[in-house]
Amino acid sequence: MLQLATAIKKSEIADNIFELVLKTELHKYTLRPGQFVHVRVSKSTEHVLRRPISISNIDYDNNEITIVFRAEGAGTRKLAEINEGETLDFLMPLGNGYDITAAAGGSHVLIVGGGIGVPPLYELSKQLKERGVKTTHVLGFNSKKDVFYEAEFKNLGETYIATADGTYGSAGFVTDVIQKLGTDFNQFYACGPKVMLKVLDETMPMDGFISLEERMGCGFGVCYACVCETKAGGHLKICTDGPVFEKGAVVL
Ligand code: FES
Repeated sequence: MLQLATAIKKSEIADNIFELVLKTELHKYTLRPGQFVHVRVSKSTEHVLRRPISISNIDYDNNEITIVFRAEGAGTRKLAEINEGETLDFLMPLGNGYDITAAAGGSHVLIVGGGIGVPPLYELSKQLKERGVKTTHVLGFNSKKDVFYEAEFKNLGETYIATADGTYGSAGFVTDVIQKLGTDFNQFYACGPKVMLKVLDETMPMDGFISLEERMGCGFGVCYACVCETKAGGHLKICTDGPVFEKGAVVL
């Protein structure tokens, strides 16, 4: 559904990573963590394609959602120029989102995020905690300047940071941290670069869910720009069948 929102707070929370708090008619929706919005980045005709952006925080009490994006291309750089008080439009809610009911109260889950895949895991972890699920977070970034949401995740549970260049937290990748932690978890939930998801998908012994990040066209299932292959030999659309898939479901 097309929705208007007003930007009420913009912050650069890490190098070129922007957090935008949006006031919108959230009471009209029931959102799942891992769903996304498809944002029109500019009112001009210059950037007509929308950009899929994850929701990192859902605040029904205040009718606010928070989105986080990296300003890396012309479209998202334009979006980063938005001023507080300005409006934008987006489609929401899109995608299937994570199934939080798969984790029983009292269970212990591993949440693994990489780079710009980290934001949707924050709302996920919040909702799991509300269900009485214990969460351990392992978050990977390239470098210290890229790290964000460490304190937020620490408020929800045990949190480990890894940086590829070793400038913060443990040196190396999320998989190096997991190797030390062990895999005694009931489930895992992950979002991040495909290479990270592939390793987790192939090596995690427990059930889990992965969320794919993909460039999209329409965002609602009609253009086929986001198709991925299933291991069973079929095809699925990331925008409507995903972005969250069960471990082992899709070819990475
Ligand atoms: Fe158009 Fe998925 S983005 S079908």
